[in-house]
Amino acid sequence: MTTAPAAGPARTDAATGDAAEPALRCTDLTYSFGETRAVDGLNLEVAQGEVFGLLGPNGAGKTTAIRAITTLLPVPTGKISVFGLDCARRRMQVRRLLGYVPQQLSADSGLTGRENVELFARVFDVPRSERRDRVDEALTAVDLTEAAGRLAGTYSGGMVRRLELAQALVSAPRLLILDEPTIGLDPLARASVWDCIAQVRAGTGMTVLVTTHYMDEADEHCHRLALMHRGRIQAMGAPGELRADLAAQLGADPDRVSLEDVFRHHAGAGLTGADRPDEGGDFRDVRRTRSAARLR
Ligand SMILES: Nc1ncnc2c1ncn2[C@@H]1O[C@H](COP(=O)(O)OP(=O)(O)OP(=O)(O)O)[C@@H](O)[C@H]1O
Ligand SMILES: [Mg+2]
Repeated sequence: MTTAPAAGPARTDAATGDAAEPALRCTDLTYSFGETRAVDGLNLEVAQGEVFGLLGPNGAGKTTAIRAITTLLPVPTGKISVFGLDCARRRMQVRRLLGYVPQQLSADSGLTGRENVELFARVFDVPRSERRDRVDEALTAVDLTEAAGRLAGTYSGGMVRRLELAQALVSAPRLLILDEPTIGLDPLARASVWDCIAQVRAGTGMTVLVTTHYMDEADEHCHRLALMHRGRIQAMGAPGELRADLAAQLGADPDRVSLEDVFRHHAGAGLTGADRPDEGGDFRDVRRTRSAARLR
């Protein structure tokens, strides 16, 4: 896996980025699909080594922001840099620093676990001489060594998600981006995904940007959170700070304010019908969930 960020004096390196720069900086990022402004002036900084959670209701713009950060969408307005490298001008270098587990299914049910990870190793240019070791390491990191020879189509939902994690880890990313990594998993499978992430972080110092709809996970695993709604960040801070801020605002006991309360407060609970057009997702969301279910 990747090594921890270099210590010592700041430097700019075309391959690894700048040790003094944040892992991610988005400045006034805006992205529209036709009339729909999915991301609307997003400003965000994720420090190196941090686990940062992007929260928000269905349609908030989280996946769109992530697709721009991973260079899968062009950025018409604003700027994104990863370890100081500009995503628009240094696209290929940025891609080499990133691991990405997308919201939609990224494993092939007709390949074995090992073949899926090998495919990603080739796509991400892992040197041929290192490939076998790196694939082994990635499979070990997600506890799939024994199941590696089985078709992914026979895996449980939790194993599929861990396989996708191995696919993203095989390139030894410095910034791992996970779009709803635990959606639809049972509590044990969810915990094992987070255990894998924690172990890799402990060994490498990798930075993590994650989206989730599970507030308990955000509370437990993220150092800082941003709450996004309608393309904009409504609140940002450590989970405890967000709870304390809302408690102070409401004059409530901080111990009785949950992250779910914070989510409801900032994501416009109480709005219904025409006021909340994105409620519950759309066809794309349903199709995503179903395709994941099929592989399971
Ligand atoms: N390919 C697309 N074409 C048109 N509109 C899109 C497209 N992708 C996203 N949108 C719209 O952009 C907005 C933001 O969607 P996005 O998928 O980024 O939200 P999200 O926060 O990831 O939601 P979820 O929690 O459901 O995954 C929504 O209004 C969505 O309908
Ligand atoms: Mg999404």
